[in-house]
Amino acid sequence: MLTNKKRIYLSSPHMGGAEQKYIKVAFDTNWIAPLGANVDAFEEAIARYCGIKHVVALSSGTAAIHLALILLGVKPGDEVIASSFTFSATINPIVYLGATPVLVDSEPGTWNMDPDLLEEAIKGRRAQGAERRAQGKSHHSPLTAHRLPKAIIVVHLYGMPANMDRIMAIANKYDIPVIEDAAEALGSKYKGKQVGTFGKMGVLSFNGNKIITTSGGGALISDDKEMIDKARFLATQARDKAPHYQHSQIGYNYRMSNVLAGIGCGQMEVIDERVKQRRSNFSFYYENLKKYQGLKFLEEPDKSYFSNHWLTAVIIDAEITGITREDLQKQLEENNIESRPLWKPMHLQPVFSVYPTYLSGVSERLFQNGLCLPSGTGMTDEERQRVLEVLLKCIRKVC
Ligand SMILES: Cc1ncc(COP(=O)(O)O)c(C=O)c1O
Repeated sequence: MLTNKKRIYLSSPHMGGAEQKYIKVAFDTNWIAPLGANVDAFEEAIARYCGIKHVVALSSGTAAIHLALILLGVKPGDEVIASSFTFSATINPIVYLGATPVLVDSEPGTWNMDPDLLEEAIKGRRAQGAERRAQGKSHHSPLTAHRLPKAIIVVHLYGMPANMDRIMAIANKYDIPVIEDAAEALGSKYKGKQVGTFGKMGVLSFNGNKIITTSGGGALISDDKEMIDKARFLATQARDKAPHYQHSQIGYNYRMSNVLAGIGCGQMEVIDERVKQRRSNFSFYYENLKKYQGLKFLEEPDKSYFSNHWLTAVIIDAEITGITREDLQKQLEENNIESRPLWKPMHLQPVFSVYPTYLSGVSERLFQNGLCLPSGTGMTDEERQRVLEVLLKCIRKVC
């Protein structure tokens, strides 16, 4: 590091000021754990904001994905189609259940699941299943055999909505339920509707780096009351209604604590502001850098898409600019500025490389050339300017 300037982080937690008021109530009433008024209020605030009927606040977004898959009946030997360009937390719960992830590549416009590849994957898995059954290799009995993948997990990466019209049309055509991983996309809309509300269930994350945070936490959202009631039951150790502790199913300890939900209540008071600030970060980088050939940004493809622009990422064409993603990252680091390569697609991860894939090369290219820039809502104008100056210095040298 060649500077003594204060570090600029990629995406730090940003408190709104009201959080401690809610936490104080939890302390004053000794309603520390578990559950309580803050959890109820946080769930209601999320439901109102997202325009969804039912919400269960959980310990993480990963827990929400795990429960969603259980609720859809995913079992060992089943297949679940998922976006390959994502964080590992989208895929891990599929493997927890002994099911097989089928990894689908991105389309260039949104960086999210390519609808054509999705349909190719569904047809491909159906054909393969039929072949295996004909050869007597499928462990499913002919009567219970699931010829199709059990679920589709579509991710809204970096806050950009996936092409939900096409994805839902394909999922409905084959009658496969959709789970939307909107962990990074609270506040993002497709055709005016919050993402996470198109499929059977949606997943949110309130991890420390997200647009709002409870330090750690997540939620499962749905218009289906039965699903959310069941998720609440499973997340609370699956306790049967009985005067003693009785269990007829395997349960999980996945509920959010009343103290952390207090942080969430405070954060929901500033969610609109946070969306504006993230979008303003994107506009700042975009407007100042768009004239440089060889730099590209994840723009909303058309008016149907409204992104919260959780993280602003830049794609560097090394052939045009003469600099690589690594060069840029190194220069930023030398100025005590944190940046991060785009997610490494799941089909390139050693732990997931054995699973079936439907690829176009889009996400691999994005990974090789993309860098996430500091995008926190707590960044000052001076800090944004500091990041820009480093970027301009690198680019001007060569462009
Ligand atoms: C795309 C995506 N899915 C799932 C998760 C998991 O959320 P959590 O960290 O709350 O478990 C995250 C974030 O961490 C994420 O970015």
